[in-house]
Amino acid sequence: MLKHFLQFKDFTRAEHEYLFERARVIKARFKRYETYHPLADRTLAMIFEKSSTRTRLSFEAGMHQLGGAAIYLNTRDTQLGRGEPVEDAGKVISRMVDIVMIRTFEQDIVERFAAHSRVPVINGLTNEYHPCQILADVFTFIEHRGSIQGRTVAWIGDSNNMCNTWLQAAEVLDFKVHVSTPPGYEVEPERANLHGTGHFEVFADPLDACRGADLVTTDVWTSMGWEAENEERLKAFADWQVDADMMKRAKPDALFMHCLPAHRGEEVSGEVLDGPQSVVWDEAENRLHVQKALMEYLLLGKLEI
Ligand code: CP
Ligand code: NVA
Repeated sequence: MLKHFLQFKDFTRAEHEYLFERARVIKARFKRYETYHPLADRTLAMIFEKSSTRTRLSFEAGMHQLGGAAIYLNTRDTQLGRGEPVEDAGKVISRMVDIVMIRTFEQDIVERFAAHSRVPVINGLTNEYHPCQILADVFTFIEHRGSIQGRTVAWIGDSNNMCNTWLQAAEVLDFKVHVSTPPGYEVEPERANLHGTGHFEVFADPLDACRGADLVTTDVWTSMGWEAENEERLKAFADWQVDADMMKRAKPDALFMHCLPAHRGEEVSGEVLDGPQSVVWDEAENRLHVQKALMEYLLLGKLEI
């Protein structure tokens, strides 16, 4: 059956665990400079309606390293940007390539594309979710600290696509998220598409949210698409900067993550981002390895580890 990865909960816990294992194997081979071309002759189309550094690079380099090819399409210079229906684009693009990654605005756009696609579709970030990033983040946590089951993640800041995806991951992988957002920017459980299994708790004070956390994480105050609210958000989020004081409330061995790009002095202090608890560079690198495992799984199914 055709499989897509449009939100974190599209995969079961067993599937995620397989991906983490597979990513470990693929990463180790890559570090040994071993050639591994299971996707020879396969083509990935990458459709971008928003900017990107990491997502483009990790998918494009990843596909190349797996023996395939990647094609970059930007809305500005495709017919999508001139109003071609996304359903038609899904039908046409999926007749020419083997797998598609899309970064766009509303989740509905990737859902509609996927509904008309003959090939697997991956969400490379929407307004609602960023599932590939959370795959990398959980994999990074596992590399540094072991299983995330039963652990506590503190989410500080905006209830954006990253936050929603952490909340979904908590339900799928059975860990807890402490969320603290400024008033007016609270989590919307329906938008996050949660089962409501009690895997998150809301804290008015970000310092309280950090208490006992194994991982503290945040993201930009103004996501792509919300630029018009930037000034207002700078004021509203001023007390939600992850700084050394917040990190002190977490467990002594707590990690810090940020999907990047980061704004030092806004959502995170330079001291924390560049400090000893930060694993943001491993986190960024791991996009490459988990997405190679993801593409391999979507195209070839489960392989012997
Ligand atoms: N973290 C992330 O998705 O980065 P890019 O916007 O650079 O792709
Ligand atoms: N929440 C951010 C993530 C960027 C990788 C955004 O959507 O702009």
